[in-house]
Amino acid sequence: MRKWLLITLIILLILILLPVGALTFVVLTKPDVGPAPTLTVSATPELVERGRYLFNHQAACVACHTPWDTSKYSFPSIAGKDGAGGPTFGAESGVPGMIHAPNVTPAALKEWSDGEILRALVSGVNKRGDALFPLMPYGHYAKLATPDLHAIIAYMRTLRAVEGTTPPRELKFPMNIIVRLIPKAAEPPAQAPKPDAAEYPAYVVNSAACLHCHSPSNHGKVKPGNEFSGGVVFPMPDGSVVRSSNLTPDDETGLGKWTKDAFIARFHAGVEQAKLPVQPGHSNTPMPWASYGGMTDADLGAIYDHLRALPKVSNKVERFTPTGK
Ligand code: HEC
Ligand code: HEC
Repeated sequence: MRKWLLITLIILLILILLPVGALTFVVLTKPDVGPAPTLTVSATPELVERGRYLFNHQAACVACHTPWDTSKYSFPSIAGKDGAGGPTFGAESGVPGMIHAPNVTPAALKEWSDGEILRALVSGVNKRGDALFPLMPYGHYAKLATPDLHAIIAYMRTLRAVEGTTPPRELKFPMNIIVRLIPKAAEPPAQAPKPDAAEYPAYVVNSAACLHCHSPSNHGKVKPGNEFSGGVVFPMPDGSVVRSSNLTPDDETGLGKWTKDAFIARFHAGVEQAKLPVQPGHSNTPMPWASYGGMTDADLGAIYDHLRALPKVSNKVERFTPTGK
């Protein structure tokens, strides 16, 4: 009898100690993406201009990292505050807790080396090596080509320095532990594909990170076979709900009937719409039209080509449910 009691106690002890040991191991050793590379970006006017385009338009960094004008369509950035730190992301953005996209102007990043900024963009850790929550789409930026990453860094160094810090992040258990396991050492490609290369459309779509807002997912993982089929729910501050569109080429429920010209025109129209206030009862949208709408026709056309080549998924999305319905 005594023997069985002892064995049960030992098993219980192991059952308790194993998870505690695993947690301690993760907290003490993760993330482990290696040191930041030694890097000094030499800024040329061309490089800064390319970085401006990526930061403000193609990668839309500005849309998350700048305070929003919530009265206007698609929550455009408040002028003069580019990069000064974004709004709070919480449950409505799938965050188990609260996160603020931090200030990334030179006022906040003056102590960061170029290598530390690069490591944050591609491996998802901050200057101290702590994990960033992947709402910051670093998994996408790990596939940006090195010259484009250098361009973004060069441009960020030219942003107007705005003082101010955002409150610290709050993540609930177990995400505060899981988040440490996501960052990975990355090796960005040496060169971006040329605009006429077959890989170019996929490169643009990846850098714009359209995927997550437009794909149904389970615990942060896109459901295989449902990429870009839309229907992701976004609760709006006024209590209404918007759902993302099906971007696959399905004729009835997706973009099947859209011409390339109509697609490009929709984006440019978004820039104008974002200057207007949203009338009560009308739909707002989390999609940063003002940023993406500034892309060139060639790059928007490349995005269209990529979406056209996707498998058709039939998924009818009701785009807007007004407040109280
Ligand atoms: C969808 C929103 C989103 C987009 C787009 C985005 N970020 Fe972020 N970024 C965040 C959030 C949120 C954090 C903070 C994550 C955390 O603290 O866990 C962050 C963190 C960072 C950090 C670390 C700052 C610090 O003080 O720790 C840098 C640098 C950064 N982002 C730069 C960029 C750049 C450059 C781009 C475009 C290439 C970009 N971000 C695009 C949301 C975004
Ligand atoms: C922050 C989330 C978010 C991101 C990022 C995002 N979208 Fe959207 N998108 C939405 C939502 C929500 C809607 C539906 C409301 C609307 O029309 O804006 C939408 C609508 C659209 C529409 C349909 C417009 C119409 O008039 O029917 C297209 C096309 C589109 N998105 C393409 C894209 C592409 C391409 C990208 C990447 C360059 C992208 N989206 C990135 C959330 C997003």
